Amino acid sequence: MAKLEGLHDLFLEQLKDMYDSEKQIIKALPKMIKEAENAQLKRALEEHLEETRGHVERLERVFESVESKARGQHCPGMEGIIDEGKELLEKDAEPAVRDAGIIASAQRVEHYEMAAYGTLIAYAKDMGHREATTLLQQTLKEEEAADRKLTEISRSVNTDAMQPVGAH
Ligand SMILES: [Fe+2]
Repeated sequence: MAKLEGLHDLFLEQLKDMYDSEKQIIKALPKMIKEAENAQLKRALEEHLEETRGHVERLERVFESVESKARGQHCPGMEGIIDEGKELLEKDAEPAVRDAGIIASAQRVEHYEMAAYGTLIAYAKDMGHREATTLLQQTLKEEEAADRKLTEISRSVNTDAMQPVGAH
């Protein structure tokens, strides 16, 4: 593996990591959508799947803007988060409880992405890559909005998921 000589190399490394992460999310979301019971949750996840396809395209434009070829590098961090979500889906659960679990997994994914995009934006800004900065900021905004939406949906899902008093 080539030596990371400077911030630009690290920037590319992390871009590759996110390129792979977004693709992993595209593969994982359909199962979560299928298992979700709450209509609002299903829709929010469907919309986010569409957005995520856009994130992949945007990353390709970021690579292009710094004259680099779009390439992925396996991201074990995202794989772990997705695997935990999958495990939860395999458990026997009341539909509302499963929905609450889907939200928990999806928000972990979102926060991982928000952290990664935050770093990428800081690097892009520091290195004066204006186009890359703008593109990455657009995606970060969408991740943040998706996260907020999930919090909103969780309010009714969590209420539905609570066991009735005395049912323990
Ligand atoms: Fe994304």
